Amino acid sequence: MRINHWNNQPVDSAIVLLTEEDSQNLSRLSLPEQLTEIIPSLVARKDFTGKKGSLLRVPMAEGTLYLSGLGKAAKCTVNVVRDALAEGLRSAGKNRAKSAYVPLAHIACEGLDVALGEAAGLCDYVFDKYKTKDEDYTPFALDEIFTDIEGDFARGLVYAECQKFSRNLANEPGCAIYPEILAKKAQAVAEESGLVCEVWDEEKLKAEKMGALLAVGSGSKNPPHLIHLTYKPANPKKKVAFVGKGITFDSGGLDLKPDNFMLTMKGDKTGACNVLAIMKGVAELKPDVEVHGFMTCAENMPSGSAYKPDDIITARNGKTIEINNTDAEGRLVLSDALCVASELKPDVIIDMATLTGACMVALGKWRAGLFSNDDGLAGKLLAVSEGRGESFWRMPLEDEHIAESLKSPYADLVNCGERYGGAIFAALFLKEFVSEGIAWAHMDIAGVDHYDKESGVYAKGMSAFGVRTCLEYVMEA
Ligand code: BES
Ligand code: MN
Ligand code: ZN
Repeated sequence: MRINHWNNQPVDSAIVLLTEEDSQNLSRLSLPEQLTEIIPSLVARKDFTGKKGSLLRVPMAEGTLYLSGLGKAAKCTVNVVRDALAEGLRSAGKNRAKSAYVPLAHIACEGLDVALGEAAGLCDYVFDKYKTKDEDYTPFALDEIFTDIEGDFARGLVYAECQKFSRNLANEPGCAIYPEILAKKAQAVAEESGLVCEVWDEEKLKAEKMGALLAVGSGSKNPPHLIHLTYKPANPKKKVAFVGKGITFDSGGLDLKPDNFMLTMKGDKTGACNVLAIMKGVAELKPDVEVHGFMTCAENMPSGSAYKPDDIITARNGKTIEINNTDAEGRLVLSDALCVASELKPDVIIDMATLTGACMVALGKWRAGLFSNDDGLAGKLLAVSEGRGESFWRMPLEDEHIAESLKSPYADLVNCGERYGGAIFAALFLKEFVSEGIAWAHMDIAGVDHYDKESGVYAKGMSAFGVRTCLEYVMEA
């Protein structure tokens, strides 16, 4: 997608975003002549009122006009604008428009340039590579946008490309992607973008005492892998490590999930896919920060070789874990990876994981959980995520009762507690594997991982939620 400055170039669509107030006071807007006539009449007939989420498609003699509602002006944030843009651009592109004029100068919000880049980059996303395309199939046509504001459109476009890259991996089914394939994808990204990539296969994982990752992977014919990508600029002002859960399919293991809970569990690798996408973006955006990306990958399957309830395993830092539920596997693969990340002595570790159904119950499907041992880091991540339209809610990481339930009668820890407070239990479990003195944040993205239907910048399927927040975080660090 290209975004250029509007110079009266001919276009085959125009996407005009209006608040409810704008639609009543059109004289204030400076729109091209063709539009100043038609819009007032559409508003007068109440075909368009500016309601949030509304989209009116108006075929005209030359080209098509799209009116996208922003709702009440007082509530019109850049996040509302991004979604309204994505809806308008998506509709234009699906309806064979190749170019669009998108005036934005009349909107009083900060950060419209990056938001336009994001919406432009994400509007065409659908995961349909496995669908046979019949004669009626019309590919998304839009590839050029003209706007009346100046700014940094490239940054938002890179954020969007990275998010789509992660979605493309996360949406692939378990038969197509397993740990070894993720390792190959990571190596390909590293080669293209000049990152360093180190892969630990099963043998190396044994030598490195990665007992928790090995246990989770032991039930599958596809062995586990740990992938480590590195971006090192000349004089970094900070060292940040990302760690992503990469369960390429989560059947639950011997504690098998019921059928309806197993669906979408191909997406249990989103954390790892996000980390790869973030590293790809970092290689392109070149921040002044040393960035490490760890993808901790396994397939959680039941079999004769699978790890079992009652097993006691030893993680890399020597802590022993009694397994009381093989479906609480994410915290296990993360535990070993958090140890390896801690050994690099980074200033910051951020892990991302589709970790608990409990987080989804607590916060719903449109907000992720954020846990942190550091108020500064948590505050920064909340601020950055707000600007990107990815909403997080800070959850508690202090709880003496839940902490007590981490204790095992036979080992140092159990991997699973009671149902209540399950997201906090998981976060407290992870904390056991992060070295003292490192600012650490844990993102539980289970709830937001999968979209049932397309909306705003999201398409049906895996969302790759968190990629834009993390990229912005390293750019602002
Ligand atoms: N991958 C799941 C969590 C999940 C649930 C992600 C729904 C996305 C949507 C995780 O491995 C899991 O199975 N968690 C269990 C933990 C329980 C056994 C303590 C859960 O949430 O039920
Ligand atoms: Mn599980
Ligand atoms: Zn899982």
